[in-house]
Amino acid sequence: MEISHFKDMYIAELQELVSVEAQLADALLRMAGAASHPALKRLLIHHRAEAETQGDRLTTILLKHGADPTAHTDQAMQALITETRKMLIILTDDDLRDAGVIASAQKLEHYEMAAYGTAAALAGQLDLRDEQKMLHLSLEEEKRADALLTQLAKGEVNRDAVAA
Ligand SMILES: [Fe+2]
Repeated sequence: MEISHFKDMYIAELQELVSVEAQLADALLRMAGAASHPALKRLLIHHRAEAETQGDRLTTILLKHGADPTAHTDQAMQALITETRKMLIILTDDDLRDAGVIASAQKLEHYEMAAYGTAAALAGQLDLRDEQKMLHLSLEEEKRADALLTQLAKGEVNRDAVAA
């Protein structure tokens, strides 16, 4: 395949991701509001700040390529966030809702991890090493957030839900 096709795919992937990060930043704030456990609230607020930084990184890269960061709305993320909202309405018990918040946040994180993995691989194929490093940095932040959510899920948050 011609390298210019990879470039088009790369830019489209970044335009999706910048929309994903903006939507996630909003969703994380709502999810933090719905969460009861202080450690979970803190984690969501912290990751929201990371999402904003990650969005800035993507915007920087897109502008460098002369591409519009507002060109795309990621509909898969919209659908995932709608599902999250529906689930949080159903779960009225605090501890169960926390478990639901963690499960939803992990779905969103895994979607982001897949997208960053693809974007970083494309940057590598296009030999855009600095951009690849920036995308890897974001990918590592997503992985860390996901690991912390797993820790919370295995620890006291879900134990509280089981005891409720
Ligand atoms: Fe992110």
